Amino acid sequence: MPKIKSLLDGIGNENVTEKYYDDWAINYDQTLKKWNYKAPKKAVKILGKVKRKFDNILDLACGTGMFAEEIKKKYKKIIIDGCDISEQSLQIAKQKKLYRKLYKKSFEKKIKITSKYDLISMIGSMTYCQKPNILFSLVNTYLKKNGIFIFSHRIDLWEKQNFDALLEKFKKNFTIKYRSRPLKYLPENTDFSNKIKIRIIVLKKI
Ligand SMILES: C[S@@+](CC[C@H](N)C(=O)[O-])C[C@H]1O[C@@H](n2cnc3c(N)ncnc32)[C@H](O)[C@@H]1O
Repeated sequence: MPKIKSLLDGIGNENVTEKYYDDWAINYDQTLKKWNYKAPKKAVKILGKVKRKFDNILDLACGTGMFAEEIKKKYKKIIIDGCDISEQSLQIAKQKKLYRKLYKKSFEKKIKITSKYDLISMIGSMTYCQKPNILFSLVNTYLKKNGIFIFSHRIDLWEKQNFDALLEKFKKNFTIKYRSRPLKYLPENTDFSNKIKIRIIVLKKI
């Protein structure tokens, strides 16, 4: 992976993040497996608790497609579209043949979708969101009524950014269906190990 001070502190602006993930794309899956990254698998398990049928999903910040690989194991017929800013990551995702469409686009910009979605995911990527109000408003427009938004977020950043207040602000749009306990994130990465945990949240569009 490319050298930076630490993944913990974030990477930088969108251009720097794009370049960082472009450079990392080829080894990303291997590194994440080495760090025992299980957020995609855990998120799919949590979706099972929501007990719904999902025909289609938009996977925001899909990266190389690790979440798509997991969701496809459980929801075999689901149609998956994805978006990411890293072209190299999208190329790897494309090779996996799991996605119908891949958009090279920031999750903070409007994607010209062709129809609304049952499910939107954003796993392992909320760290990079600088304008959560815009993101949540966009997700609201992409989802069908009763659609589901599942995302993970680091608990240290959740508290620092007061994500509870953000969810409160969007309570006219979304109800909270599930809020996980703190979960391990990158247990085999020395910076994260047991120090940094994540929460997985499931919201339902009203
Ligand atoms: C840690 S990876 C997670 C990828 C994938 N969801 C997974 O679970 O493996 C973070 C991803 O967020 C993407 N990303 C960062 N900022 C973004 C933005 N503003 N819009 C879209 N994608 C972004 C990066 O390019 C990278 O692929």
